[in-house]
Amino acid sequence: MNTQKQGKLICVGTGMRMAGQLTPIAKSYIETADVVIAAVPNVFARKWLQGIAKEYVCLLGYYSDCDVEGKNRRDTYRRMTETILQAVREGKTVCAAFYGHPGIFACISHMAIEGARAEGFSAHMEPGISAEDCLVADIGIDPGKTGVQAMETTQFMIYQRKIDPTCLLILWQPGLAGELSLKRFDTDAARLQVLVDKLARDYPLDHEVILYEAATHPLEQTRQDKIRLRDLPQASLKQITTLVIPPAAAMQFDQVIIDRLKALPALGTVSELSEASVS
Ligand SMILES: C[S@@+](CC[C@H](N)C(=O)[O-])C[C@H]1O[C@@H](n2cnc3c(N)ncnc32)[C@H](O)[C@@H]1O
Repeated sequence: MNTQKQGKLICVGTGMRMAGQLTPIAKSYIETADVVIAAVPNVFARKWLQGIAKEYVCLLGYYSDCDVEGKNRRDTYRRMTETILQAVREGKTVCAAFYGHPGIFACISHMAIEGARAEGFSAHMEPGISAEDCLVADIGIDPGKTGVQAMETTQFMIYQRKIDPTCLLILWQPGLAGELSLKRFDTDAARLQVLVDKLARDYPLDHEVILYEAATHPLEQTRQDKIRLRDLPQASLKQITTLVIPPAAAMQFDQVIIDRLKALPALGTVSELSEASVS
């Protein structure tokens, strides 16, 4: 017996650049859902979504919760999630749309999907093109070359993290670095200096870092400003800036592991392996 309730949730991403980065399946859900509930800051993207959705609910106004005494971003995210879930409970097919990838540094989609499934509704996420995908293409970095560490800037600052300076480091939300009240969406030179001091444990102060901002429409320029790490506190950072820190040192061989691997017998041929798996 099918016990799935009638409401349904699909979380989609719109990509970073509206014209061309929306996947066909995401577009199809946006067009056919009973309601599109979205937190898409780009005005052109928003207008376009409003034009093709049957009904459109904009969540952006909820950020004003942060101006209320005793409330912060977490309250905003909970209220956004609740709005999505309420529409699902009403039996609607709900498409929740977020810019970039809906599940990368975007907690609302994860909370909504978990909540919907816990209440017995069908819920899933479709992937989208994230800021990290764009920076790989725009800057021309292959994360597979050295490996990549990626984390939120304030999380990096306030927790004890092990940084590997032989791999690429991507810090998200440096424009909110060290903002602990969870009420504001900016930072200042003093907080950025704390970030620089922490990074200086693993990187030389004259190490070149990149301030990256993907163009969000065809008339916008992508920002890829290369600056010295020590100059970060004086740089202009926005909410959309991502900090890219290329490797500062070469990878070192782990000779113990290499010797162990070399001492092992050669791997079997493909036919030997398939015979072994049959027997
Ligand atoms: C809440 S996260 C949203 C990420 C988004 N879900 C994605 O898939 O890319 C916001 C952070 O994403 C990064 N970001 C957002 N827009 C960007 C852009 N146009 N260029 C570069 N990074 C961007 C910045 O690090 C920003 O602080």
